[in-house]
Amino acid sequence: MVVPGPSKPLRGEPPQGCGGADSGAANVTATGAAAAGTAKVAATRAATIGATAASAANAAATGAPTIGATVANAANAAAPGAATIGATAASATNAGSTMIRRTRVEVDLSAIVANARAVRSIAQTPLIAVVKADAYGHGAIAVATALAEAKAASGFAVSLVEEGVALREAGVAEPILVMGPSQLGGEDEMVMAGLTPVVASDEDLGALIDVAHRRQRTIDAHLKIDTGMGRLGVQVGRAAELAADAAGHGVRIVGLMTHFACADTDEPDDPSSMTRAQLHQFSEADRAVTATGAPVYVRHVANSSGALMFPEARFDRVRCGIAIYGNGRWPDGVVRTQAMRLVTEVAHVRVIPAGCTVGYGATWKAPRDSRVAILPVGYADGLPRRASGHAQVVIRGKRVPVVGRISMDITIADVTDLPAVAIGDPVVLLGRAGGGESITAAEYGTWAGLSEYEVTCGPGGASKRVPRTFVGEVR
Ligand SMILES: Cc1ncc(COP(=O)(O)O)c(C=O)c1O
Repeated sequence: MVVPGPSKPLRGEPPQGCGGADSGAANVTATGAAAAGTAKVAATRAATIGATAASAANAAATGAPTIGATVANAANAAAPGAATIGATAASATNAGSTMIRRTRVEVDLSAIVANARAVRSIAQTPLIAVVKADAYGHGAIAVATALAEAKAASGFAVSLVEEGVALREAGVAEPILVMGPSQLGGEDEMVMAGLTPVVASDEDLGALIDVAHRRQRTIDAHLKIDTGMGRLGVQVGRAAELAADAAGHGVRIVGLMTHFACADTDEPDDPSSMTRAQLHQFSEADRAVTATGAPVYVRHVANSSGALMFPEARFDRVRCGIAIYGNGRWPDGVVRTQAMRLVTEVAHVRVIPAGCTVGYGATWKAPRDSRVAILPVGYADGLPRRASGHAQVVIRGKRVPVVGRISMDITIADVTDLPAVAIGDPVVLLGRAGGGESITAAEYGTWAGLSEYEVTCGPGGASKRVPRTFVGEVR
C-alpha cells in the first residue's frame, strides 16, 4: 500500500487521507503471523482449559492450583525473559474459559521464591510473607503455595478473613495471620480455619473472648501496638492491660506486632527518625506485656524496608510484602527480580499520515508520516489513562512511546522507527523485556502518579480482566 501524501488541510479539517490505513508491510507479515497466532491460541486454550484457577477470590469455587504442573503455553515461549518453564497456568477470571486476547500478566514464581530467600538471608530471620490483596496482584494462592513448597516462608499474612480462608482451602498449612483492618464478625471463621487473629482494639478482643467462651477453648492471637502509624493497634500504655484481660478470658497473646510508617524513606543511621521512635515505643510495650506473664514467643515489626534497612527491627520474624515481589527499597548491590510482567501482542499496524491524529480527544498529531501499533490493552486492564503521553512499551527490544489517549481496551504505540513491527509481535508494558530493556514498577508508576504497590495491585489485582500466567520452576 502506498502511504498517501498529506496535502494541505483546511483549518479545522483533518488532513486528506486521515483516518489511518492498514500498513501494507504489516499485512504481508501478518499472513504468516496470523497462522502462528492460530497455533498460539490453540495452545493457550489447551493450557487454560487444563489449568486450575489460582485466585484468592475464587479459590473456594475452583480449588487449589497445581504448582509445578507444566503447561505448554506458546505465549511464554514467545515472551522474552519468560524463559522456560514448568509453569502453572492460572487465571482469576479465565480459568476454564477461552483465552484469545494475548494480553496477560505473567508472574515469575521462581523470582518470588528467590526474592524471599534473599530477604531471609539479609535479615537472618524467618519470613512472614504478606500475600494480602491477592499477593499484591500476583495471585495469592500460587504465590503462597510456591513459597510454602520451597520452604521460603514460615508463615503468611493477609488482611481479610476471606483471604486466609481461601489459602487454607487451597491447602496452605503454614500459620496465617489475619491483620485486619477489621475482622469483626469473622472470629468463628478464623478459629475454624486455624487462622491467627490480630487484636488491634478492645472490640477485637471482646469478640474473640466471646468466641472463646462459646466454644470453650483458648484462642491464640497477636496483639498489635500503635507506635505512631495511627491507624490500627492499641496504644503503648494500654497494651499490658489488654494482654492481661485477654489471658483472663481464654485469649492468649502469643505475638506482638507494630507497623512502620516511614521505613521506606528514613535513613537507617538517623537516630531521630520516625522508625527509631517507633522501635523505642514497641520495646516499651513489649516489656510491659511480657511483664504480665503473657506467653509472647513471636515479635514482628519490620515490613520490607524495615527488614532490609534496619537490623534492629528484625526481632523474631520479618513481615514483608513488596520485597518478595522484587520491588521496593533494597540495599545496594543485592540482586532481586521484579516478578510481574504485563505483556500483550500487536493487534494491528496502521499508517498515519503526517498531520493526522489518533485516539479520543485527538491529542496526538503525527509529526511525520507514521506507523502506529494498536495494542489490545487499555485502562480496563489496569493501564492508567493518566499514563497517556508518558508511557512507553518495549517491542522488538526497543522502547517506543505510547501516543494519544489510552482508552478502555486500546493503547497506541508509535513504531515509525521500527519498520519491521508486525501483527503478533510481543509487547512488554511492565517488566523484563528483550534487548536488555526493563520497565520497572517504579518507572511505570511515575507515568501515572502511582506507587509500586498500586502498579502491581493494578494490572493483576484491580483488573481481574487480565488473566495471569505463572512461570518459573519452583524449587
Ligand atoms: C501490617 C502490615 N505489615 C506488613 C506489610 C508489608 O509491607 P511491605 O509491602 O512494605 O513489605 C503491610 C503492607 O501494607 C502491612 O499493612
